Amino acid sequence: MPIIAHTDGWILQTQTTAYALGFDSDGRLVNRWWGVRLPYPEDYPAPPDSDGYASFNGPAHLLPEEYPAYADGLNYTEPCLKLTYPDEVRAVILKLEDSTHSDDTLILTLTDPAYPALHVMLYYTLHAQTDIIARRAVITNTGNVPITLERVWSALWYIPQDGLNFRHFTGRWNDEFILREETLTHGVKTIESRRLTTSHHHNPYFALHRDATEDSGDVWFGLLAWSGNWSIRAEVTDFGGVRLGVGVNDWDFAYQLNAGESFRTPTAYAGYTQGGFSAASRNLHACLRGTLPHAGQPRKVLFNSWEVSEFDVNEASQKGFAQAAAAIGCELFVMDDGWFNGRDSDSAGLGDWWPDARKFPDGLTPLVTHVNALGMDFGLWIEPEMVNPASDLYRKHPDWVIHHPNRPRTQARNQLILNLARTDVQEYLITALDKLLTQHNIAFIKWDMNRNVSEAGWPDAPGHPRELWVRYVDGLYHVWGTLRQRHPGVLWQSCSGGGGRADWGILRYADQIWLSDNTDPTRRLPMQANFSHVFPPETLESWVTDMGADYLPLAFRYHVSMCGVLGVGADITRWSDKQRDQARQLTEAYKAVRDVIQFGDVFRLVQTDPYYAMQYLDATAENGVLFVFRTYAPEPTAPMRVRLRGLQPDRLYRVEDHAVVRSGAAWMADGLTVVLGNFESRLLKLTAT
Ligand code: DGJ
Repeated sequence: MPIIAHTDGWILQTQTTAYALGFDSDGRLVNRWWGVRLPYPEDYPAPPDSDGYASFNGPAHLLPEEYPAYADGLNYTEPCLKLTYPDEVRAVILKLEDSTHSDDTLILTLTDPAYPALHVMLYYTLHAQTDIIARRAVITNTGNVPITLERVWSALWYIPQDGLNFRHFTGRWNDEFILREETLTHGVKTIESRRLTTSHHHNPYFALHRDATEDSGDVWFGLLAWSGNWSIRAEVTDFGGVRLGVGVNDWDFAYQLNAGESFRTPTAYAGYTQGGFSAASRNLHACLRGTLPHAGQPRKVLFNSWEVSEFDVNEASQKGFAQAAAAIGCELFVMDDGWFNGRDSDSAGLGDWWPDARKFPDGLTPLVTHVNALGMDFGLWIEPEMVNPASDLYRKHPDWVIHHPNRPRTQARNQLILNLARTDVQEYLITALDKLLTQHNIAFIKWDMNRNVSEAGWPDAPGHPRELWVRYVDGLYHVWGTLRQRHPGVLWQSCSGGGGRADWGILRYADQIWLSDNTDPTRRLPMQANFSHVFPPETLESWVTDMGADYLPLAFRYHVSMCGVLGVGADITRWSDKQRDQARQLTEAYKAVRDVIQFGDVFRLVQTDPYYAMQYLDATAENGVLFVFRTYAPEPTAPMRVRLRGLQPDRLYRVEDHAVVRSGAAWMADGLTVVLGNFESRLLKLTAT
C-alpha cells in the first residue's frame, strides 16, 4: 500500500521515498519524515512535540507543522494560511476534523473549532513511480458571511538538514534560466513573481542539497504548477531546520471567500532523491509526462517566420518560405506576428484577430492550403491577452484592460493587458479564437505574452479587486482550456517574449515552450541544460536561426536545437544549395532519433565551458544519442572526457565513430575521449549490440 494509516498518523510511500506525518500532543499536524523509504512503519520517527522555547517562542518555532495558520499562539515563522474572519479576528487554530485516503491520495480536513465555517482540505497525491508528491489545499467557507483570505500556500516542505544550499533559476528577457546557488543562512530567502505571470526573472522551482552532484547526493526539489504571481520562501529558523513554503504570492493579494465558495490552490510538486540532480530532473520529467496534453506524440520539426520576416508577412512571401521549409524537411510551418488586422509594427493591431486584408486579400486559406499541399501542418502566432490602443477592440472596449481609473495606463511595447479575470473578456477571446481555429486548418498555435503588468486595478470587480492576481490566471486557463477542448488536435506553444511563462501550470494547456528569444547557440547550451532540470525535452522548442551563423558551423547550430524540439527560424531562402542540402540531412538525422531525444531520459554529462555534452536514452536503455559541443577555448586545451550514464552495466554498447564495443559499465566508468576543435560538435548514436 503506498499510503499507510498508522497509530502515529500516515506514511506516504513512493517507489524509493517516504513522507510521514502525524500529530503532536496538542493535535497539531506535523511532519515526521521526508526521505528514503524505510522497511517498516515503526521505523519512522514519532511525531515531534514541543512546548516552545522560553517565554518568546511558541511550539511552532520548533515543530515542523504541515500547514500552519497565522497565528496559533506565539508564532512568528512563515505560515501557510493567513485570513481575517468576518469579526476581524485574525488568529486561526486548525484541528483535524476528518481524514480519508485512497491508494494514492490522502485528504485531511481541518477546521477551526471556534469558526467551524472554515474548512481546510489538504490533498497529498502520490506519483509513486516517479517519487513525486503533489500537495494542494482547498479552503471552503461553509458559513454565510465572507472570510478574507490573505495568504493561501500550496505546501510547506521541511528539509531535515541544516547547512543546505538553495538552487534556483534567475534570468531576464533574452537571458533566461541562469542557475544560481547559495547556502541558506538564518532568515528568509524569497524568490517570486509579482508580474502577473511566471516571469523571466525567477522560476517557481527549487532544489535543496548539501553536497549533491549531478550523479549522487541527497536532493529535495520541487516546483509550483502556476502561471501567475507565486513565491517560494526558504526559512531557516533560529532553532535550525529549513522550511520551504510554496504558493500563490500573497503580495498585494486578498480574496473574498464568499459563503459556500472554495479557493483552490495550485499544486506544489516535490520529491526527494539520493541520486543527485540528474535523478531529480528525470523524476520530474517522468511525473510531468504523465500529465502532458499530447503525451508521447512526437513533436514536428517546424519553421517559424519571426526572425526572418518580423511583421512583414504576406501571402506571397510566406508561400516562398513554406516552399523552402518543406524542401529542408520541415513538417510544420508557423507564421508568427504580423498577419492580423493593422499589424505593420508593434504599435497596432493586437486584439483584432482577423487577417490583414492588405497582406492576405483572400484571407489565410490560400496560404494554409499551400502549406498543407507541401505536406506540412500550418501554425499561427497569437497574443490574446493583449491589446494595442490602436485597435478596433480597444476603441470599443477601453474598459476591458487592467487599469486604475485615475492613473495613466502604462504601455509596454505599445500594448495594454486585457483583464482576463472578466468573464466578458474571456467570452470575447473564446469566440474570436474559436472562429479562427474553426475556419482554418490550424494544427499549432504559438500563444505569446509580451509584457508584464502595471497599474493592477480591476474597477467594478465583483469581489475584492486584489483577486485579480488569481482570477486573471484562472481566466487564462479557462480560455485556453476551452479552446483546447474544442480543438483537441491542436498543439500549443507557450511563449512570453521567450521564457516568461515556463511553468508546469501552463503545461496543462501548452505542449511546448519557447525558452528564449536568445537563439545564439552558445548561449542556448547552458540555458537549455538548465531548463532540463524542470522540463523534459519534448517541451523545449529550439530553432536554428541566423544568430551565430558568422562563427558557428550549421551542424553546431542544428545540434544545439536538436536537444529538444527542432525548429528553423532562419532565412533559408538565402542559404546556399549546399547549406540547404546539409540542413535537410541534419533534419533527417534528427527525425531518425527524435523519439529517443523527445521522450528519453536526459543526462547533462558535461557543463563546463568550453565543453558541453548531453545524453538521451530510451526506456529500454538500448538506444541513445550523445551530443558533444566545444565552444571556444584557446589552445592547448585538453580534450573532453565523457562518461556515459544510465546504460545497463553488463550489456555491450557501440558508440558511433568508435570501433570498440564495450560494456555499459566501461562506457560509464571510463567513458570516451572526444577531440573537438573550437566550435565543433557531434551527434553520436549509442546502440546496445
Ligand atoms: C516575442 C516572441 O518571443 C518572439 O518569438 C516573437 O513571436 C515575437 N514576440 C513576435 O512579436
